[in-house]
Amino acid sequence: MVGTVGLNSARRNAIAQDVTTSDKPLLRVLAGEAISPPPVWLMRQAGRYLPEYRAVRAKTRDFLQLCFTPDLATEVTLQPIRRYGFDAAILFSDILVIPHALGQAMRFVEGEGPRLEPVRDARALGKLSAARLGSRQSPLEAVYQAVAAIRSALPRETALIGFAGSPWTVACYMVEGGTSRDFHVVKQWAMSDPEEFAGLIDLVVDATIEHLSRQVVAGAEVIQLFDSHAGVLPDGAYERWVIDPNARIVEAVRAKHPAVPIIGFPRGSGLRYEAFATATRVSAVSVDSAVPARWAAAKLQPHVVVQGNLDPVYLLAGGTAMRRAAGDILEALGQGPTIFNLGHGVIKETPPDHVADLVSCIRGSGAR
Ligand code: CP3
Repeated sequence: MVGTVGLNSARRNAIAQDVTTSDKPLLRVLAGEAISPPPVWLMRQAGRYLPEYRAVRAKTRDFLQLCFTPDLATEVTLQPIRRYGFDAAILFSDILVIPHALGQAMRFVEGEGPRLEPVRDARALGKLSAARLGSRQSPLEAVYQAVAAIRSALPRETALIGFAGSPWTVACYMVEGGTSRDFHVVKQWAMSDPEEFAGLIDLVVDATIEHLSRQVVAGAEVIQLFDSHAGVLPDGAYERWVIDPNARIVEAVRAKHPAVPIIGFPRGSGLRYEAFATATRVSAVSVDSAVPARWAAAKLQPHVVVQGNLDPVYLLAGGTAMRRAAGDILEALGQGPTIFNLGHGVIKETPPDHVADLVSCIRGSGAR
């Protein structure tokens, strides 16, 4: 089944002008086509649940070294493509390469996660700079080399996704200094001194535009913006720190690269997914597992492509429960343009066989 149901005609025409027909199912869907079965890829499809990832990772000093060694980043990006033949590869990197490139001291502690020297006032903010990002001496040069190497190694039907964290989510880590239960330190700064906090957001917006543009120039065909902590903000603050910065990034990247589709992932946005989808002008919205797929089909799919949203714990559990839940999502979203994915990343305890099972369940659902 092929069609262009679901997207309003203005959006469909705008996309059709930029994207010529492609062999890549992911790009066809992002141009507004409904394809059955839909393309499938998974957030965190490269990572610790794969033994071959753990083997590469064991040979590196730390996680950042893996991100900044093009050969190794290329190898781990390709691992899940070889195993499962996903419709997309996502660059192996991290959202926290941006604070690193801005000059913030940081490291990944084994088994615990990221640790950053917190930025909590104008003085600490003043020490950071995006100056080197635009130059050929960018500390992120290794990332762009990896993008180029991955692109040339991919099968012709597989699309390459580049990515960055959205400014609010990146700021959460920069200010808290790591992960947090409720993110109250960064929220307090945003609420009590929005003008000063805007300085941090603006710095990350500019760095992100540059970083994404460089990924596209190196060969990324699609961009995903991860706003993993969008859901912690109340109404009002959400518009200012989630919608506005994402919209600015979409506008600037699209001005330079009009043909590149952009997927937004404002996790935990609830009812606000609708405003996010229309106000940011993203090409697609990735929805978390709390969003009813039928609601997404009715409210979001008329405006944007919808990606999602199997609960990663179904993938961990596997079996009939997983296949039934995946089938429900396909049934709700499959009439319009959709990309099958999880509502968040693969959990590291997930048996690799469950992933193979999920992919064959999706692919078995119809003839392409
Ligand atoms: O396969 C892919 O999805 C591509 C690679 C990718 C990673 N991180 C690799 C990674 C992507 C797209 C990310 C995005 C990312 N990084 C997000 C947004 C998505 C989300 O999960 O909400 C966030 C918030 C981060 C920040 C981050 N990186 C944290 C909090 C941690 C520690 C927690 C953890 O899962 O260990 C990381 C480390 C990280 N990034 C790992 C991987 C594979 C594990 C590190 C290791 O191998 O030791």
